[in-house]
Amino acid sequence: SQPLRLGIAGLGTVGIGVVCILREHAALLEARTGRRLEITAVSARDHTKDRGISLASYAWEADPVALAQRGDIDVFVELIGGDEGPAKDAVEAALSKGKDVVTANKALLAIHGQALAEQAEADGRALRYEAAVAGGIPVIKALTEGLAGNAVTRVMGVMNGSCNYILTRMETAGLSYDEVFAEADGLGYLEADPQLDVGGIDAAHKLAILSSLAFGTKVDFAGITLEGIDRVSIDDIRAAADMGYKIKLLGVAQQTARGLEQRMQPCLVPATSPLGQLDGGTNMVVLEGDAVGQIVLRGPGAGEGPTASAVLSDICDLARGFSGPVFGLPATTLETSQPATAALPASY
Ligand code: HSE
Repeated sequence: SQPLRLGIAGLGTVGIGVVCILREHAALLEARTGRRLEITAVSARDHTKDRGISLASYAWEADPVALAQRGDIDVFVELIGGDEGPAKDAVEAALSKGKDVVTANKALLAIHGQALAEQAEADGRALRYEAAVAGGIPVIKALTEGLAGNAVTRVMGVMNGSCNYILTRMETAGLSYDEVFAEADGLGYLEADPQLDVGGIDAAHKLAILSSLAFGTKVDFAGITLEGIDRVSIDDIRAAADMGYKIKLLGVAQQTARGLEQRMQPCLVPATSPLGQLDGGTNMVVLEGDAVGQIVLRGPGAGEGPTASAVLSDICDLARGFSGPVFGLPATTLETSQPATAALPASY
């Protein structure tokens, strides 16, 4: 069969991780998918930068939009990031040129996912984004494929490792928010714009995507009640600990009698619960369905290997000929007839 030809835009940590897996596991991936996965061309801002591996065998495009439109690629892999600018332009260009798209870009999907999904549907192309939510945890597949037989009742979890690191470190070292923020920033644990992390925005992007898939609704980032961790004090954390709780930046999406409720806020969770025991930069997503009950997924939510692992999962699906899912279909509307579920349960 024909090779699947890839164009990769963005050669930061994740992009290089994807290139490395494609090289190291070339034979394994071909055996699994029945097709050779071939990188045709790559794109990044700086051509001369040493990225630790040779990229000389791939065509180079300075402009990701040009890469997206090349006649010799089948799949455009967008690892640039950002909800506007080159990432958005290139994804739109790729879809309109008949390419399938794989992206790790949660901001793009949370803000423009609905329009992009509609474009992908109209163009008959796939738009896949396993890496956009919770890094290496295959939560998009768990939700859309694994729980396909369920009415999903609630999705919740800790979806930003940087915030969980900060809250954990405040608690274990007894340090102030400002001290731990400075430390985390110095260690490179925060996004270039740290407000995306500590303001809860990055986590809310991820919740908006999960919520759309779980409930078949349009992606509604603006509808999320959002509060970051920047006003959590060491006194709050101590007071919570005295009562047997921890403070986590918790995302919750659930159907209520009033409609879909989406929240991303610092919450008290019992210290002994799975969420309460989630320390450091790890993510945890809890999915609840009417048939399955509750399942808990835990794992690395960021980093080269884990995020590249999720990107490869999408690339392999495309090689196998699977194309769905895009977001909740444009025409679907929120059902509000389900009974309201309780507020947060006592423990998870
Ligand atoms: N800063 C993000 C996090 C990166 O810690 O979860 C992955 O989205």
